[in-house]
Amino acid sequence: MRSKTLALAAVGAGVALVLSACGANEAPAPAGGGSTSGAPAPSGGMKVGVILPETATSARWEGFDKPMLKAAMQAQGLDADIQNAQGDTATFTRLADSMITQKVKVLVIASINSELGKTVAAKAATANIPVIDYDRLNLGGSSKYYVSFDNTKVGELQGEALASALKGKQGAQVIEIEGAPTDNNATLFYNGQQKVLKPLYENGTLKLVKSQKIDNWDNQAGGRTFEQFLTQNGGKVDGVVAANDGLAGAIITVLAKNGLKVPVTGQDATPAGLQAVLRGDQYMTVFKPIKEEAEATAKLAAALAKGDTSAADGIAKQTEKDPVGNRDVKSVLLTPQTITKANVKDVITAGYVKASEVCTGDVQPLCAAAGISQ
Ligand code: BGC
Repeated sequence: MRSKTLALAAVGAGVALVLSACGANEAPAPAGGGSTSGAPAPSGGMKVGVILPETATSARWEGFDKPMLKAAMQAQGLDADIQNAQGDTATFTRLADSMITQKVKVLVIASINSELGKTVAAKAATANIPVIDYDRLNLGGSSKYYVSFDNTKVGELQGEALASALKGKQGAQVIEIEGAPTDNNATLFYNGQQKVLKPLYENGTLKLVKSQKIDNWDNQAGGRTFEQFLTQNGGKVDGVVAANDGLAGAIITVLAKNGLKVPVTGQDATPAGLQAVLRGDQYMTVFKPIKEEAEATAKLAAALAKGDTSAADGIAKQTEKDPVGNRDVKSVLLTPQTITKANVKDVITAGYVKASEVCTGDVQPLCAAAGISQ
């Protein structure tokens, strides 16, 4: 019952996000309708295939990435076909095969896991189609370019925020609910968190109760795992590392059921996450300006579609280490920002989420207190 309610809430948030991001982004209305249908855009530009991984793991993919990539690709005169594999690896493979058969000029993939991304990139290479790893780096893969954020930094921001929220609470007990073990980003988030938290666990400032990676970023499974740990620990917890807003939401539901309210981290600055931050149910979220990620990807795709690798190299001036493939991948790595109650309005001012989506019901008076005008 509870998970059904949550799932519905997540769908609602996703829909609201889509509307918001489109409006905020002021994307020129495509005459051919949404690119999600697979219908060619009217520009007649060079064709680029984009495959997003999921909808349920985070409201970001449909809410931010899809509309922002669509607008950015159009601005570069590209004809983007943007699809979402909905967490299904067979669907992902089918979409990739079809885009490769259609001879897209560039393939942009945010893969469900590294192995799948690696397989898709290898197939694309045999058809001479350049691949950009979008947001998630495929370890051991062959994509020449990667666009994302400084994901270790994301984890550091989460760790720093939790440490500061628990300051003065000697021996505060922490539970960590992490992302998918098959997503390199989840590993980087964890590594960043541990840079801050491990010394504090070691010197007894904080006490680690349990840490668990959650397969496929399954938000509901994250909530259930957290509940088990909480029960095993006699109902005691002082702070929670939740790798993203979706996991945080499921954990906050469990905390509330147990009459608890403790600092919880998050990520993605989703409308539901921002509301939880304003309510004080979630201590922080991480805002990753996905519009910049989409724009860098579109610029890179435009250069690669023209076969201009020196222009592409001029855009992807950073590198990300692939420890499995033992290679440095040319990258664009953008900067994440911590959001707490004090600066929720930054996300709204930046045009990612509308005040009207966040400041509803019980959150309305909290918005006023946080300086968010509607
Ligand atoms: C992304 C996060 C997202 C998570 C679950 C990660 O790879 O970087 O923004 O919350 O996947 O979808």
